[in-house]
Amino acid sequence: MIIDELRIIGSTQTNVVMAAELIRIAQRALRKRPPEPRKEGLGQLVYPFDKDLAWAATIYMRTPTRVLWDLYRSPANRLEPLYDELVADMKADSRMLWRDGDGISVEARHVEDFAAGERQVVGTVKNALLDAAGRRGARLHVDPERPATRWVARLDDKNELVISIDLGGGSLSQRGWRRDTGPAPLREHLAAVLLMLARFDPRKDILVDPMCGSGTIPIEAVHLARATPRKARTLATLGFGREAKPLYEDAAPIVIGCDLDLEVLASARDNARAAGIPDAITWQRADVATLTPDKIGEIAKERGREPAPGLLLSNPPYGERLSDAELGPLYESLAMTCRKFAGWRAGFLVGNPLLEDIFLRAIGRPRIKKPLANANLRAYFYLYEL
Ligand SMILES: C[S@@+](CC[C@H](N)C(=O)[O-])C[C@H]1O[C@@H](n2cnc3c(N)ncnc32)[C@H](O)[C@@H]1O
Repeated sequence: MIIDELRIIGSTQTNVVMAAELIRIAQRALRKRPPEPRKEGLGQLVYPFDKDLAWAATIYMRTPTRVLWDLYRSPANRLEPLYDELVADMKADSRMLWRDGDGISVEARHVEDFAAGERQVVGTVKNALLDAAGRRGARLHVDPERPATRWVARLDDKNELVISIDLGGGSLSQRGWRRDTGPAPLREHLAAVLLMLARFDPRKDILVDPMCGSGTIPIEAVHLARATPRKARTLATLGFGREAKPLYEDAAPIVIGCDLDLEVLASARDNARAAGIPDAITWQRADVATLTPDKIGEIAKERGREPAPGLLLSNPPYGERLSDAELGPLYESLAMTCRKFAGWRAGFLVGNPLLEDIFLRAIGRPRIKKPLANANLRAYFYLYEL
């Protein structure tokens, strides 16, 4: 069956945040509000396909991991009927999905419940594409390295196979600026999710990551504030690419990244340079125990802004290798520092319940507590009003 939907995929529990980000972007870039999406599971949004919305989502969104154009759906659970149905649909399809001479790649995701193996599903979809295009007079070839379009086959929640074009050309989480990482870097799209959950307002909030590691949160904060576009070759292939500028070109948020480790701070600096924002962030070597609003206020003044409350946002150390005896004193000093930042908000992504216990005594209950997985570790995002 031919279908026509825009699918936005992110980490589990991020549906609401992704929908909010797309509203912000569509209103600014297209001067219109997107329709209400259908929610699939806890990490997928589906909209009726619209070229403008697909363009804006692919170019500007920072919270999803993928943006797909769903094109065909098949209930077939064997390869032969799948091939026949796909070729018939592709031959009858009037949408311009390829050009003569294009290279394509095909991948299968979450097809464990299909009656055939992953490689056979990939082979069948690829053959259907090459044959259907051939019958319409276009020669396609397989080019896994630099395809004009990446095709994805996946089983949906009704166990039907959906064939899509990956409009971002792969994972959107990798922004391409990472040169070097600290020991446990946060995935880039999750940093954007944290900023959205904490309602980071770049016009008002000073943003401080007191344990910034390789700088993911500060770098994301600057690009989220500007709504920096990414390049998406696939959109040009499909005929709906267009010039894109940052949506908030003049945004100049005060963003500060601190860490105890000098080496990791040097890599954060390199990453910011590679991300095209060499001077947008102030990097400081500091123990979290020594941070004060006055020190942050001085940095804000140096950058031409009056000291004001803002947002402390971080993913502090946690994980299977670190014991409570190691983490306890660190979380205690984080809580003591937070107590000095009255009027600010503080958000943490952390997988150890010790932080919540210590903060309960020092600060009180979080305003938000939300489960979020980070690199396959179970974690929670906590937001406190200080
Ligand atoms: C989980 S990592 C942060 C990862 C970071 N979000 C990224 O994307 O790379 C935690 C960071 O906390 C820093 N850290 C540990 N103890 C600290 C302290 N007392 N003061 C400041 N930073 C500290 C570590 O050096 C490490 O870079």
